[in-house]
Amino acid sequence: MKIQDRYYWEAKRLGYKSRASFKLLQINERFYILKKGYRVLDLGAAPGGWSQVAREIVGSNGTVVAVDIKPVKIENVIYLKKNVFDEDIIDVLKNYAPFHAVLSDMSPKISGVSSWDHARSIELAERSLEIAVEVLKDRGHFVTKIFRGDMENAFKRKCEKFFELVKPHKPRASSPKSSEIYIVCKRFRLSRTP
Ligand SMILES: C[S@@+](CC[C@H](N)C(=O)[O-])C[C@H]1O[C@@H](n2cnc3c(N)ncnc32)[C@H](O)[C@@H]1O
Repeated sequence: MKIQDRYYWEAKRLGYKSRASFKLLQINERFYILKKGYRVLDLGAAPGGWSQVAREIVGSNGTVVAVDIKPVKIENVIYLKKNVFDEDIIDVLKNYAPFHAVLSDMSPKISGVSSWDHARSIELAERSLEIAVEVLKDRGHFVTKIFRGDMENAFKRKCEKFFELVKPHKPRASSPKSSEIYIVCKRFRLSRTP
């Protein structure tokens, strides 16, 4: 059985909404982004695999807020049906802020043209960063997906303005065929916000 199929069946067995759950579990094993009691924002959360993992880790004293155009139905997760480009999104999210961690597994509709998909993924990642700097706690963490390409370094440099540590990472559960990677940013420097 292929490794990606194994994650699919393992997600089914554990009751996760998607095999993407394992990507967040592996990112967290390596970088300790989520902890008990944390307040977490999950952008592009549907169908909810990452929100489930976040919910399990933060426990009953933590909070998970999930944003997506598509529905997210997970017990004890606050779901906001929104597009991240909605004008009022930051004001709405400030009602739940400050967050210890902002996650984004958002993905554009894949066209198959890698330069186009890369550019759209950078747009989503930049929007996630804009949101993160408005709603994160000082020393909070940010993780966002991008598809690899020539704008990756400029995006990383933007992240470095706001975070002490910025590391690209591809978890084992991410298909080797996909150009997706995650930019893991730790310890937000609130004082650097414009
Ligand atoms: C790969 S899926 C996320 C999977 C999720 N992390 C999980 O574990 O189940 C990407 C999601 O990004 C959402 N998305 C893409 N663009 C968006 C936008 N502009 N605003 C909100 N959500 C968006 C899509 O609707 C889709 O549900």
